[in-house]
Amino acid sequence: MVVGVGIDIVEVSRIAKAMENPRFSRKVLTEREEAYCDSPARVAGRWAAKEAIIKAIGFPLRLNQIQVVNNPLGQPIVTITDPNFDGKRLKIFVSITHERTHAAAVAVIERSVLQVPM
Ligand SMILES: CC(C)(COP(=O)(O)OP(=O)(O)OC[C@H]1O[C@@H](n2cnc3c(N)ncnc32)[C@H](O)[C@@H]1OP(=O)(O)O)[C@@H](O)C(=O)NCCC(=O)NCCS
Repeated sequence: MVVGVGIDIVEVSRIAKAMENPRFSRKVLTEREEAYCDSPARVAGRWAAKEAIIKAIGFPLRLNQIQVVNNPLGQPIVTITDPNFDGKRLKIFVSITHERTHAAAVAVIERSVLQVPM
């Protein structure tokens, strides 16, 4: 069942400015995300996705404890490295969009419901 939803929007220019500081990427992105993000718009998409996920989860995470990388179809796949996150029961879905000026994302958290033996 769905137990959380979050949304975020960010200006690409704000992220481009922040990227001038080399510490920004290390604080926000994982190594795989850094390798994937070839434009400020893609970094902005990751930023929005992570903020949306934090809203949906309802407890604080460091941004680089959240990884959003794309599968071969291009769909963004989320991994959380915080040991307090119950990745066995909680699944996170995220969708990202970016235009010239803005990037946005929405996240949904699903918790698996235990099956009752029949
Ligand atoms: C996939 C598609 C909807 C993306 O829409 P778009 O308007 O070009 O781009 P947007 O800015 O709205 O979204 C870009 C984001 O969509 C996400 N995305 C890309 N492919 C996706 C897919 N197949 N499913 C879900 N999300 C996808 C990515 O997160 C991407 O951002 P990122 O590269 O920074 O991770 C569009 O390319 C499309 O309709 N393609 C035709 C169908 C297609 O190729 N499907 C994929 C193969 S099955």
